[in-house]
Amino acid sequence: MSDLAMDAPYRPAALDRAEQGLLGKPIDRYEGPLKVSGAAPYAYEQAPEGTAYMAVVTAAIGRGRVTGIDAAAAEAIPGVLTVIHGDPRMPAGEGNSRAMPAMGSDEVFHYGQGIALVVAETQEVAREAARRVTVHYDEQPGRFDATAVEVQQDHKLGFLPPVNRGDLEAALAQAEVVLDRTYTTPIHFPAALEPHATLAWWEGDQLLVRTSNQVIGGAKGTIATALGIDKSRVRVQAPYVGGGFGGKTGVGQEAIFAAIAAEAVGRPVKVALTRRQTAYMVHHRSPTTQRLRIGCDREGRISAIAHESVAYQNDDSAFLEPVPFGTLPLYAGEARRFRTDLARIDLPATGAVRAPGEAIGTFAVECAMDELAEQLGLDPIELRRRNEPTRDPTTGKRFSTRRLLDCYDEGARRFGWDKRETTPGSRREGEWLIGMGMAAALRGNFTVQAEAEVILGADGRATVKTDMTDIGTGTYTILAQTAGEMLGLPISAIDVVIGDTDLPPSAGSGGSFGAGSACAAAALACEDILTELGLRMNAATDDLRLKDGQVTAGARTTPLADLVRGSPIAAKGKTTPGKESQATSQASHGAQFAEVAVNAVTGEVRVRRMLGVFDIGRVLNEKTARNQIVGGMVWGLAYALTEDAVVDPRNGRFVNPDFGEYHVAVNADVPQIEAYFIEEIDDSANPVGAKGVGELGIAGSGAAVVNAIHNATGVRIYDMPVTLDKLL
Ligand code: MOS
Repeated sequence: MSDLAMDAPYRPAALDRAEQGLLGKPIDRYEGPLKVSGAAPYAYEQAPEGTAYMAVVTAAIGRGRVTGIDAAAAEAIPGVLTVIHGDPRMPAGEGNSRAMPAMGSDEVFHYGQGIALVVAETQEVAREAARRVTVHYDEQPGRFDATAVEVQQDHKLGFLPPVNRGDLEAALAQAEVVLDRTYTTPIHFPAALEPHATLAWWEGDQLLVRTSNQVIGGAKGTIATALGIDKSRVRVQAPYVGGGFGGKTGVGQEAIFAAIAAEAVGRPVKVALTRRQTAYMVHHRSPTTQRLRIGCDREGRISAIAHESVAYQNDDSAFLEPVPFGTLPLYAGEARRFRTDLARIDLPATGAVRAPGEAIGTFAVECAMDELAEQLGLDPIELRRRNEPTRDPTTGKRFSTRRLLDCYDEGARRFGWDKRETTPGSRREGEWLIGMGMAAALRGNFTVQAEAEVILGADGRATVKTDMTDIGTGTYTILAQTAGEMLGLPISAIDVVIGDTDLPPSAGSGGSFGAGSACAAAALACEDILTELGLRMNAATDDLRLKDGQVTAGARTTPLADLVRGSPIAAKGKTTPGKESQATSQASHGAQFAEVAVNAVTGEVRVRRMLGVFDIGRVLNEKTARNQIVGGMVWGLAYALTEDAVVDPRNGRFVNPDFGEYHVAVNADVPQIEAYFIEEIDDSANPVGAKGVGELGIAGSGAAVVNAIHNATGVRIYDMPVTLDKLL
């Protein structure tokens, strides 16, 4: 196995001399035909012989105890197999934060918590029976209002410790200009279109779980821990996943419930959460309060910057939204303070949702920069340019690659930024006020460990194997492109097998690290195959030329299939973080632009166009990368204008836990969106030089919309989302 730690920049030489011309190209999705024809089996679309159906009974109070469960009426319905509650393997309050089954005790920790399971012959019977289970409660007061609970400064939650550099208060006192603003953001749901769903069954001691999950290696461990069995007894498969957005980074309660139910009835059991249940049994993004203080001189040179925030979490979970994460490397300034304080609350867990930290953190800092630019009489891009650091301003580390200034320049040119009216409210078309806004985008790049195996078969076809998932992102396609590029094979000669924990372990799909790490592992495996091919050709590996299934060394050309006939080649590649990962500050960057029209009579906001230019390292597939970015920009639009989950402060119940009332952007809301890339291969990031792209598009896009609304109307809104009542 080729095991490469990123101790120094590294790029396989074979990538530079590759002639297949696949990597980076806007190739259609490898698995697209299966998906559009309905032939790709998602978790709930499979029913092995004898499958039974499960429904979950959920708590109808926000805090308290279950004093009794009467299942007689449910059990009396023909077709009901069993009703399960109080299973001790559903440990309560043990900090199993990504699973959180809580049926092992009679305690209710939050509204909508799973408290009993019904298994039946059909889904309809299971759901009807679940409605007929009567639960008696001793209801107790709970902490449901995030703004009314005490805030803790000393806590150990999250991965981002507070940063306190220099004397912030003194620097602010000395600054010629100071902006001090507080922003608030609401709860966001991950809102994957495919709800959490699982099919589970036992084969002797072995548990098989087909589920909808982003990180199946982690899921395997969590399920084993929750059930108290060894990891070797669990196999998790997720070949097709209908969106994750962070909500499927961990294990849904339903997966563990299905395993318990399958054991109880001795049959395969499957379950899909209802849309409303996903609001409670899946984590959400914490609402936040964010105070931005920026001090600078009259030319806009920043001397002090503070991004101090509050996020909330329940008593069981260890995650905390890393709110200022994206602000740390963004702007210069000697005195720096970044922190996220904690409010404890009795609601479902908060967790990673669509660019945790940056999505909402860049909203606050980029709106603050826009307002500061206005106060200084500077163009917003010029203010950012004057504060572009040459090293990471918080850690002092060198940047791996950073093309933010180029993104501003190219974005401004393509968007027509020079046509922006500098005086707010001065462009009008009939009832509509028109404005333009921009913002920086930044998302940290994570280097993570990943493995892949590549097999060059006796028929000359190659197979790529890794336990990655494709959550709609393009994983299948870019793995095929990487192997095809390295081995000189067309896509049609590559098989990609992913989504099974029996395959070599990857990092899964999360934190935008999946594409770069998995393709890097595959590329390293291919390097080993090339070495073996060199031996078989009796030529130096560097002299091999591979294209369309032919291998050329000097004057000799041989079909690849002839070289492996009777003797296939299998190789594994592994990439891990190393000294270079530690020594560099790594992020993807971009410049976001938006044009909006605000109705002067009704306050209605229509986004007319959005455009962004992005620095994501190597572009692995121009089409799937653009698709990721445009999707992110749509999120930004929706965050800015509509997404807002509301909690009833009396009982911790969501008022709008469905798509009828929780408004994600739909086609009619989304204008023309353009995304472009400035490609600079980042050899410090991983061996294919690709930085994260999945979550970058959301960073800054909400701020660009809100800044455009200000440019159109002269009104500044500090509270997301910008609904029309706030504008009138
Ligand atoms: Mo992501 S929100 O780390 O899937």
